[in-house]
Amino acid sequence: MTTVEDARVTPVAIGGTRGGPDRTTLRKDRWWGSVLVTVTILTAFVTYATYAAFANKNYFVGPAMHRNYISPFYSPCLAASCVPGSHPSWVISWWTISPALLILVFPLGFRFTCYYYRRAYYRSFWLAPPSCGVADAHGKYSGETRFPLILQNVHRWFFYFGLIFNVILTIDAVVAFQFPGQGIGVGLGTIVLCVNAALLWLYTLSCHACRHLCGGQVRSFSKHPLRHWLWKVVTPLNARHMQFAWASLIFVGLTDLYIRLVASGAFTDPKLF
Ligand code: FES
Repeated sequence: MTTVEDARVTPVAIGGTRGGPDRTTLRKDRWWGSVLVTVTILTAFVTYATYAAFANKNYFVGPAMHRNYISPFYSPCLAASCVPGSHPSWVISWWTISPALLILVFPLGFRFTCYYYRRAYYRSFWLAPPSCGVADAHGKYSGETRFPLILQNVHRWFFYFGLIFNVILTIDAVVAFQFPGQGIGVGLGTIVLCVNAALLWLYTLSCHACRHLCGGQVRSFSKHPLRHWLWKVVTPLNARHMQFAWASLIFVGLTDLYIRLVASGAFTDPKLF
């Protein structure tokens, strides 16, 4: 039996070698299931997003089809090469490659530096550690205190860009109620763009940086009623950040796919009313 005296002399090596149990693990459950799912979904998303970003076509369903849908991967479409009708009144004239490459660094940077995704891909791709009670694949641990991982601290800045992009994608969803030449209506694509915008708002507002912005570093909530109220609104969302992260990631990919299928003529967008 371990006595209090024994416990007091147990060596503790903070900052020393890490690695969990000596054996790979003593766990007998399917702890590798979450690793497998994470690797599969993230790999599939990155592969698809790379294809979509370089495709440089079929990202806009315009007046010729009586629709006004733009893919979230290409919005805002800022290059002079953007399909007519898909860009604002001013454009960047010198950008000649895919317009998606001009903007995707912001939503992807927001996701890549997300606290939840960091946990997910550190565990699943770097096996550091793959799961609780499972040996770490690396013998040393320096955390995020050194280059390059210290750059993850830019997350709070990507959060602000995330807000801007959410406003733009919300405008895209509102514009999707316009059916050029046919007035106002709702198509399946309208609903897809609205759900996409809603999920992105839930993901962004549940961000840890958002919660900190609302209620962080406040000594007395009673003296800051607005920040207290905001903190109380976003805290329940924050508790579901993981779910919003996956739902919004998968749906933003499906939204691009839907618009790609409609724009290419492979699928006809039904007008619901
Ligand atoms: S912590 Fe995930 S988006 Fe900020």
